[in-house]
Amino acid sequence: MDDVKIDIVEEIRRKTNIVDIIGNYISLNKSGKNYVCICPFHDDSNPSMFVSPDKQIYKCFSCGAGGNVFNFVMDYEHISFKEALKLLGDKVGIDTKINTVIKKKNNPIFECYEIITKFYENSLFTNKGRDALKYLNDRNITDEVIKEFRIGFSPNEDVVTKMLVSKDFSYDILIDMGITVKSDYGYKDFFFNRIMFPICDYDNKVVACSGRIFNGEVTSKYINTKETSYFKKGNLLYNYYKAREYALKDKYVIITEGFFDVIRCHIAGFKSVVATMGTAFTSEHVKHLKKLSTNIILLFDGDSAGEKATYSCGNILMKNGITPKVVRLPDNYDPDEYIIKYGAESFKKVMDNPISFIEFKLNYLKNNRDITKIQDLSNYVNDVIVELNEMQDQVMRDITIDKISLDLGIDKSIITSRLNKSPTKLKENVISSSVHIKNKYDKASYKLLYYMLNDIDIILMYQNRNVMFSNNLYRNLANEILYFYKNYGTISSASLITKLEDKKELIDLVLDIESMNYQEKYNREELDDCIEILKMETIEKEINRLNDLLKQELDITKKAEILNKIVELKKREL
Ligand code: CTP
Ligand code: MN
Repeated sequence: MDDVKIDIVEEIRRKTNIVDIIGNYISLNKSGKNYVCICPFHDDSNPSMFVSPDKQIYKCFSCGAGGNVFNFVMDYEHISFKEALKLLGDKVGIDTKINTVIKKKNNPIFECYEIITKFYENSLFTNKGRDALKYLNDRNITDEVIKEFRIGFSPNEDVVTKMLVSKDFSYDILIDMGITVKSDYGYKDFFFNRIMFPICDYDNKVVACSGRIFNGEVTSKYINTKETSYFKKGNLLYNYYKAREYALKDKYVIITEGFFDVIRCHIAGFKSVVATMGTAFTSEHVKHLKKLSTNIILLFDGDSAGEKATYSCGNILMKNGITPKVVRLPDNYDPDEYIIKYGAESFKKVMDNPISFIEFKLNYLKNNRDITKIQDLSNYVNDVIVELNEMQDQVMRDITIDKISLDLGIDKSIITSRLNKSPTKLKENVISSSVHIKNKYDKASYKLLYYMLNDIDIILMYQNRNVMFSNNLYRNLANEILYFYKNYGTISSASLITKLEDKKELIDLVLDIESMNYQEKYNREELDDCIEILKMETIEKEINRLNDLLKQELDITKKAEILNKIVELKKREL
């Protein structure tokens, strides 16, 4: 922060509203004076974070993340303070005069994938890539889209390994990455004659490639580079980075199964779209999707495998507190095929009419059951009851019961009599304080510091009355508050937090104190009591210290001196 003036920092902070900024990234719900939300910094499905518009701070009671608007943007975007300052400055029209380029780590693997990706991209537009390019164009993928998604071509000759070795990459690295294979005849390329898709991580760095056959060969349709610590299918989502750009304003995100589905949706105007790359959907995926939007639409292939994938993906989302929407396509079509066949307009209509995952699930559970048969019907109703018991939303639950009993022609009481009294409760009121203040000294310190953070009168009172916090942490914070006030003539937790920079303990203390439910305006007598208690604590600690000293002291006269001091202090204590 050294070369940026604090007034610019403060000005930017004052001009931004933390509620708007955080609300742009994740969805917030009003709760009393504050807003609550599902914390994006740990895996959770309960709202454990609060955002205070009055105090311009946020805090998660579960994982402890918290701070002011800068801290949120830094942590969420994984950027430095300067980068966050620039980002927010740009938003409110304040020139920070900072030129930041987000630095990529200098990792040979990233560098290597970047070289490969560029090579494949170029190859597609050479003579050797002619057939592959024609295949893509025939599938209605234009050159423009090809460039946008950085699609490429691996030629039918052994060139990539040689090229990379000439650039000083070792065979070992290339084998580990899955770019090169070792045979009896030496080192060879892994990809031959395939259409190449680069796969990027959440920061848009290429961390893997996938190659698709295109001229009717019978070998596996797709082959991929090896899983590494950077590339795990269960961790990444295809097209995440690009989708993110759109998701934040479109407020939805679509999940599909394949590369071509993503690209086709993108062309059809649904640009906030990702794919799972043909593997299981995981909680790790959910964590990242939540950052885009909690309005998730499952758009899997129309076949029964796609239906099954919808079911398991939806269940994972539900476990993470998200009820997705579902779009099912007719006639076993995948999104790509559907759009090609019926056009973008028809696709838009389908997308405008998703069903809720609950509805999908109730239909899904009917599969392979003949509900005109008593056994099948009762199995079905039992499954439905399990689902209903897990439903959090009372209204949704009641409506579902009505609909089901009507559809099945059975009496509502058959279902209702078997339901739990109330649905499993979400831990709603986690939004109370996380601190369990142990004793009256902590309580008094918290209260005094709270009002010091909110009222300059109390800072002055602290100074004039010579209050001593015997606890180091409290004392340090009080000093920081005093120092801030002396420099800027004002005080607020949000601005103090910026100044505290990397003094994490102190920032945590500020957030903890600010999340106490104290009255807005201080009560003079109460504060007098607090100060008394703190003075007592100081005396008590001194007595303890002297007692220890007394035990160690051998000299009789010195012992007597210490004893006298103790007696004096004890008198003051009464
Ligand atoms: N996949 C894979 N290996 C395979 C088949 C599929 O890794 N042998 C992954 C790919 O990421 C693919 C996704 O699973 O994108 C979905 O498979 P599929 O629906 O067959 O692929 P599409 O992208 O739809 O490709 P296409 O339309 O060309 O068949
Ligand atoms: Mn397909």
